[in-house]
Amino acid sequence: MKCAIILAGGKGTRMKADCPKVMCNVIFKPMIGHVVDAVKEAGAEDICVITGYKHEEVEAYLSSDIKTALQQPQLGTGHAVMQATDFIKEHAEDDILILNGDGPLMDAETINKAYAYHKENNNSITLISALVDDTEGIGHIKRDDNGTLLRIVEHKDATPEEKKINESNAGCYWFYGADLLYALGNITNNNAQNEYYLTDTLEILISAGKNAGAYVVENSEVILGANDRKQLNDLNNIMRRNINTKLMLDGVDIPCTDGVIIGKNVKIGNSTVIMPNTIILGDTVIGSNCTIGPNTYIDNSTVGDNVILDNCKILDSTVEDGVDAGPFVKVRANSTLKKGVHIGNFVEVKNSTVGEGSKSAHLTYIGDSDVGSDVNFGCGTVTCNYDGKNKSRCKIGDGAFIGCNTNLIAPVEVGEQAYIAAGSTITDSIPEKALSIARARQVIKEGWVDIKKPYKEKK
Ligand code: UD1
Ligand code: CA
Repeated sequence: MKCAIILAGGKGTRMKADCPKVMCNVIFKPMIGHVVDAVKEAGAEDICVITGYKHEEVEAYLSSDIKTALQQPQLGTGHAVMQATDFIKEHAEDDILILNGDGPLMDAETINKAYAYHKENNNSITLISALVDDTEGIGHIKRDDNGTLLRIVEHKDATPEEKKINESNAGCYWFYGADLLYALGNITNNNAQNEYYLTDTLEILISAGKNAGAYVVENSEVILGANDRKQLNDLNNIMRRNINTKLMLDGVDIPCTDGVIIGKNVKIGNSTVIMPNTIILGDTVIGSNCTIGPNTYIDNSTVGDNVILDNCKILDSTVEDGVDAGPFVKVRANSTLKKGVHIGNFVEVKNSTVGEGSKSAHLTYIGDSDVGSDVNFGCGTVTCNYDGKNKSRCKIGDGAFIGCNTNLIAPVEVGEQAYIAAGSTITDSIPEKALSIARARQVIKEGWVDIKKPYKEKK
């Protein structure tokens, strides 16, 4: 059985953040979230996260199937793993993956290639390493002249010669459970940082005559972590580029990637065009042949085929085939725009269903409403859904025509094919096919200006 321990106890001083370092976002998702995803995808069945600094924040973020162990105070990565001793004892005969919670680019494929290598060689410990250009701050992998592993030397403890070694420890290891327990019992804090280093387990296990190996990755980017905001930006750029590239190879058209940020879980159909400055997040699914953007933000929503979303914000909603929305449209949570709906500039829809083919071309608020098909909203229609205390719904039947500048005071129902005269404030429900006029009659006072002379008097 595969299981995993993720290290997330450190404060991350250099990040200068209020939150624990692992809660800093890469593509709008905490780094620890990416690591948990990779570990689950790699097949780990039991996962324990080591928390420490502001542990409540990390615990609140993790899903309930994930165990945690508290490390207080934080005395190094080896000390962190010691806090999971009970977990390791339960898995003494299993393969345990240990990885840093601040390395969000590590992926399931790499983890499993290292696992295969680990099993083939019957290793007690297999670490993942990469050849890097920048050796500042890394754990250097020290080998003898034959290339046999000796130990890991942390940058702060390294001699000038050792600092030149450009094989870096990824902070991601497979252990055989019982051997990990043995090694943890032999770590000391006799080093430059007075910390208990997990990296010392390599030398300890080699000295005990156990098999040890390093799986060297081809693409060194997967081992990158973030210790400060600059590195966080680097990780964002790499992950963003990887996601966009994969989408393009799957047939999504991104003519210019400027400002295009798409989350890992987003699915987009082929021949859909993603225009600049478009952010698509969460579990969003978008169909084929759409044009999304420019300047569009979509979170956790489902979008059909042949949809146009131009300068829109779409949150937790469904947009069906052939919808054309924007510019400057906001669709808030729990809304559905059915097939062929047209929503134009400065229209907001909230917690409402808008039926097939209905149109709201300009300056309208549709909130808490059930709108039928082929309804026409005149410019400036407002569903008055809130009386200061309660929210109420409006129901608008198929084929209704709402004149410009209408207020619908909820709760109210507009029957099928009913008409509302422009400028009406509707407080009572309207039967089907009726015309409702709810405005003051126009009064004309002939020659009023000559009698009053209002403008001349002002002079
Ligand atoms: C660590 C490795 C280094 C490797 C690098 C890769 C050690 C001693 N060094 O160094 O060889 O090249 O990762 O990124 O392991 N943490 C705790 N408790 C602690 C200290 C750290 O939970 O007491 C967690 C942190 O939250 C972080 C992870 O462990 O997620 C790594 O800690 P960090 O201090 O960033 O280690 P590095 O100095 O990067
Ligand atoms: Ca680190």
